[in-house]
Amino acid sequence: MPERSGTHADDPFRGRHPTSHERLTGLPWDASYRDGPAPWDVGRPQPAIVRLASAGAFVGAVLDAGCGTGENTLHVASLGLPVLGVDVAETALAMARQKADERGIEAEFAAADAFWLDRLGRRFETVLDCGLFHTFDRDERPRYVASLASVTEHGGTLYLLCFSDEGPDPGPHPVSQDELRAAFAAGTGWNVVAVEPDRVQTRFHDDGAPAWLATLNRN
Ligand SMILES: C[S@@+](CC[C@H](N)C(=O)[O-])C[C@H]1O[C@@H](n2cnc3c(N)ncnc32)[C@H](O)[C@@H]1O
Repeated sequence: MPERSGTHADDPFRGRHPTSHERLTGLPWDASYRDGPAPWDVGRPQPAIVRLASAGAFVGAVLDAGCGTGENTLHVASLGLPVLGVDVAETALAMARQKADERGIEAEFAAADAFWLDRLGRRFETVLDCGLFHTFDRDERPRYVASLASVTEHGGTLYLLCFSDEGPDPGPHPVSQDELRAAFAAGTGWNVVAVEPDRVQTRFHDDGAPAWLATLNRN
């Protein structure tokens, strides 16, 4: 995942190597946020994340990787936890900061590439990935999984909600349970604690799309 050289002024990817999703669509992630809500931007936290939060799953410093316009970040922050949401889409980050201001919620948002989280120079006890992992192809996953490990405290927890391939009307980029478990296999720094069927709400599914909610422990 090399970075590209040269000036970033006219570069929509700001020196990043475009992700597989961006190569497929021909557009940077930021473009998804410019003309009305993105298909995944449902304007409220995902019910699966709300449930986790109610069960006390989020503890210590929290990172939301690929936070988008920040609904999940803000929900966790509203519980009084220190939360950092990161994304490559500056437009989404601006919207997230505006929501935080309007709602009077303290949360931090920063532009960062999920493949280089170590550059944050910070560590987190709880990490959330809501809809980011499934946008990466098989070649990108090892680098992303290592990046997540680099910023998660030993004993810390990663909660990952992604589209699954089980059930009718799957979302784009559906992931099989085997693929998910393989990405976090022994030697990656993670133990798979649980992979449970769940739902991801979108703007184009009446009752959400089939999903996996995975709990991973940093060993
Ligand atoms: C499907 S959206 C989910 C957004 C948000 N978590 C939600 O639930 O609404 C995926 C997000 O990941 C961000 N993203 C994609 N590749 C990224 C990368 N390499 N580093 C950081 N964020 C990335 C996109 O900009 C987008 O906001």
